Amino acid sequence: MTGPRLELPVLANFGDQHATLRLAESGDAHEIVAFARRLPDHDLLHLRRDIRQAEVVAGWLREVAEGRMTSVLAISGGQVVGYVTLDRTQPEWMAHVAEMHIAVETGRRESGLGSLLVRFALALAGELGVEKTIAQMTPDQTSAIALCRHVGFREEARLRAHVQDLDGVRHDLIVMARTVSDVQEELARVSWRDALAAAFHFGPTV
Ligand SMILES: CC(C)(COP(=O)(O)OP(=O)(O)OC[C@H]1O[C@@H](n2cnc3c(N)ncnc32)[C@H](O)[C@@H]1OP(=O)(O)O)[C@@H](O)C(=O)NCCC(=O)NCCS
Repeated sequence: MTGPRLELPVLANFGDQHATLRLAESGDAHEIVAFARRLPDHDLLHLRRDIRQAEVVAGWLREVAEGRMTSVLAISGGQVVGYVTLDRTQPEWMAHVAEMHIAVETGRRESGLGSLLVRFALALAGELGVEKTIAQMTPDQTSAIALCRHVGFREEARLRAHVQDLDGVRHDLIVMARTVSDVQEELARVSWRDALAAAFHFGPTV
């Protein structure tokens, strides 16, 4: 692997708020479940897995421990207020692709935390040897679509009536994608911290 190493944890400022960003660990299950249970019903309808359930989160953190998923948590006041995951559990012919999952607590939205987490994920993806990152969402997940466009993802596919929500209602699935090489090129020129600080200000680690 080449390029700068991500340094975590870090205190990140977004808007007039801040949070510590660090890698998820097996001891985070309780706080992740608590975070999921604070998400609004509409978000929960579209979760691919019900992360309000402790055993589902335990499975996720097992994948993290085994290196097939990498998750960065945003922590504030001792609570998880957002996360981004790079899921590399794809079959071998998609070994160069990671899927990104992200969520931010309702009260922290539209302050830049989502963009910050995605930028971290893209920088991390390059370090992990991932070449392409995808995100999947339904057309009514307008914030997710807006966020992904904002950070350089483009729609690559729409699959008709492809997923069903927790109420059993079918929705189209939009696949958005972004290549990672240009992120790595940028990071090769400047430190990742400088690159990210171009949009967000970082303070000392807490
Ligand atoms: C999608 C999500 C993570 C965005 O997080 P966020 O912290 O609000 O994102 P940001 O504040 O960084 O917003 C980035 C950009 O996205 C756009 N955006 C975000 N929410 C928006 C909304 N509700 N309406 C319109 N644009 C929106 C804005 O253009 C913003 O750019 P700006 O800073 O120039 O205004 C958050 O809404 C969320 O957790 N949603 C539920 C879970 C989900 O849908 N996950 C995605 C599945 S992959």
